[in-house]
Amino acid sequence: MIIGVPKEIKNNENRIALTPAGAAELVNHGHEVYIQASGGEGSGFTNEDYIEAGAKMLPTIEEVYQIAEMIIKVKEPIEPEYKLIKKGQILYTYFHFASSEELTNAMIENGSVCLAYETVELSDRSLPLLVPMSEVAGRMSVQEGAKYLEKTYGGYGVLLGGVPGVPPAKVLIIGGGIVGTEAAKMAAGLGADVTVMDVSLKRLRYLDDIMPANVKTSMSNDYNIRDYVQSYDLIIGAVLIPGAKAPKLVTRDMLPTMRPGTVMVDVAVDQGGCFETTKATTHADPTFTIDDVIHYCVANMPGAVPRTSTIALTNATLPYALQIAAKGWKKACTDSIPLRKGLNVVDGKVVYKGVAEAFDLPYVEVGKVL
Ligand SMILES: NC(=O)c1ccc[n+]([C@@H]2O[C@H](COP(=O)([O-])OP(=O)(O)OC[C@H]3O[C@@H](n4cnc5c(N)ncnc54)[C@H](O)[C@@H]3O)[C@@H](O)[C@H]2O)c1
Repeated sequence: MIIGVPKEIKNNENRIALTPAGAAELVNHGHEVYIQASGGEGSGFTNEDYIEAGAKMLPTIEEVYQIAEMIIKVKEPIEPEYKLIKKGQILYTYFHFASSEELTNAMIENGSVCLAYETVELSDRSLPLLVPMSEVAGRMSVQEGAKYLEKTYGGYGVLLGGVPGVPPAKVLIIGGGIVGTEAAKMAAGLGADVTVMDVSLKRLRYLDDIMPANVKTSMSNDYNIRDYVQSYDLIIGAVLIPGAKAPKLVTRDMLPTMRPGTVMVDVAVDQGGCFETTKATTHADPTFTIDDVIHYCVANMPGAVPRTSTIALTNATLPYALQIAAKGWKKACTDSIPLRKGLNVVDGKVVYKGVAEAFDLPYVEVGKVL
């Protein structure tokens, strides 16, 4: 198959959808890979790295879209890309259709085959192509939190691990899923005194089993959260209720009860946030302060570490890309239920129920397009 990887053109997006190692893997399986020149630069991969891996470089985005049977991307196509997409072209990327009617209509009109990373789903209902970004954001939340706890940034002025003779900082993580678990590992590794909260007792039991001794678990409820926030230095929001807005667990009235310089990192900001005072921020201006409590609410945290994120993303997406390239999208999606769940829009038809419902569009069962 002929595969094209364009440079991402969305503002501040430095990731690329394929590493040189991923390109080599596809080439070794007999496919042709075309990368847009300088597309990997933001992630620290040079044109030469791709050429050595067996890929070919194309100077413009137009040429990449023109030649490719399958486009592999990171972010959803944006307006300048709409007209480049060809009928029947496979687009394998994050789409998040339900949040954009314009994008949905554009993909219906161009007759492409849209395989969305975010809806590829395993039999245990986990989302394997979202996991790597949650892992990055979870680990990063502690790194960012530690930074903003420094006095220079307005923080309380504590070191997460403390030192001999000085107790460590206290880190509260609300939500013990992927983000929460990775955050807990990082905070624990730095020596902090960590508490993870969740509403799932099963999850808390699991975390209690696998985490080191400086991680405690606690049931997530208003009473406990209200109590804990008064004495914790760093509070990380990491909850998810699939398909719904995040519940507001740290409310406005709790802020005056916290110590000045407390830092709150709301990783769940992309689902509306789990702190009442959350509003989305960017890497250019990541924080704001209310009642002396620092809020960090960046909606695309992995964007700050594009090299790590690019490699993590390729590790997860490549096995499916190999299947699509080897078999064509129809057979690959017939053979693989997880991949079939990734199909959202095919040849002008919406085949993912949630997207059809979001915009009151006719829904066509995925079996009918295979
Ligand atoms: N900001 C970013 O850059 C970024 C990056 C990746 C993921 N995210 C977001 O981070 C959030 C968490 O993602 P995840 O992959 O860890 O999800 P996950 O499904 O693995 O974990 C969510 C956890 O929240 C728990 N939960 C639900 N309601 C709760 C409550 N009231 N109190 C405490 N816990 C509760 C669930 O039991 C589950 O264990 C999502 O909103 C996701 O979109 C943000």
